[in-house]
Amino acid sequence: MAISTKIQNYMERASWIRKMFEQGIELKAKIGADKVFDFSLGNPNLEPPEEVRKAILETMGDERPGKHAYMPNAGLKETREAVASFLSKEHGIPMTWEQIIMTCGAGGGLNVALKAILDHGDEVIVLSPYFVEYLFYVDNHNGVGKLAKTSVDFTLDLEEIEAAINPKTKAIVLNSPNNPSGRIYDEISLKKLGKLFEKIKQKNGQSIYILSDEPYSKIVYDGAKVPSVFQAYSESIIATSYSKDLSLPGERIGYLAVNPRMENWKQVIDGLTFCNRILGFVNAPALMQRILVKLQGVAVNVSEYKSKRDNLSRGLSAAGYSFFKPEGAFYLFPKSPIADDVKFVNILLQENILAVPGTGFGTPGHFRLAYCVEDRVIEGSLEGFRRAIHKVSR
Ligand SMILES: Cc1ncc(COP(=O)(O)O)c(C=O)c1O
Repeated sequence: MAISTKIQNYMERASWIRKMFEQGIELKAKIGADKVFDFSLGNPNLEPPEEVRKAILETMGDERPGKHAYMPNAGLKETREAVASFLSKEHGIPMTWEQIIMTCGAGGGLNVALKAILDHGDEVIVLSPYFVEYLFYVDNHNGVGKLAKTSVDFTLDLEEIEAAINPKTKAIVLNSPNNPSGRIYDEISLKKLGKLFEKIKQKNGQSIYILSDEPYSKIVYDGAKVPSVFQAYSESIIATSYSKDLSLPGERIGYLAVNPRMENWKQVIDGLTFCNRILGFVNAPALMQRILVKLQGVAVNVSEYKSKRDNLSRGLSAAGYSFFKPEGAFYLFPKSPIADDVKFVNILLQENILAVPGTGFGTPGHFRLAYCVEDRVIEGSLEGFRRAIHKVSR
């Protein structure tokens, strides 16, 4: 046995996206990439804004030595200051650089946070539909993922969440705007959730963290804004990155921000810093940290994603698909016209359309389309979407 049985099993369970990716490569080799409509991956198709290239060139032009050296595990002070200043304005709460830890993307940040807060067997509530990796991340740190459903329109279902809480509950992971639903959790529900956790704390002293995974917070449409989790609840930590809003997923740069109102924020920051080190990240990439000082508030042109969302929504609606129109991120999560979403995704594949079954996100009966693709992919796919729904409605 070359690898552990556990990892072998996990790889099989998590193979939906990989399967589509591999089938996509095969199909592209067979019929030509331009004839395949690939909606399987959340890899941003927009290039980073021009400011990113400029900042990299400027940084490299600075000939002072030490640019690439090790640094404190939490990151460069100037970068943490720039992020804290940006977040203070966004959340309307004064923050200092000490409440920020630079991480290897949001994924790295979530692992650091879970490592720091979980004892063996602690439970973490994960809401379905969920980003596939959460359950693995929780398990990485000896936690147990506890699933709770969102409502039919993918908003927070507080009763479901309350029913999932028990004395072992240590945290909940929220992801808004959501991958795959595109939903933004509204301020009132977020505050109610905060109140629920405060009530539990008062009753039996149990502290439950909100880990708010927000890599899509700047990719929002129609004037929407992601409500501040820091305003809603004090025991909250934000994990985010520049993977999506600056189109830098391969550079692995993001951060954790700890709510300044958290009772033990200093201790939590010390724990997070230590975990960034012992997980082997050591520190987030140095060059990326340096450029971020100049890039706070910069983002890709979100109107391009909006136009893709609108074009795909229009085409899918006209073809007879039903779905909730995304408020943010770059995913559509339509209902499968037949109950068996895996079967329907295979029917789409016959039309050279690559999608991911909702089953892979803990929500069967749906499928996910990542529309961070070229416009021609959307336009070219619509006839295939029409034929596919037609096939199953005869
Ligand atoms: C909801 C969600 N969280 C986290 C990540 C990981 O992003 P990063 O590249 O910042 O690690 C992704 C990436 O697709 C995501 O969709």
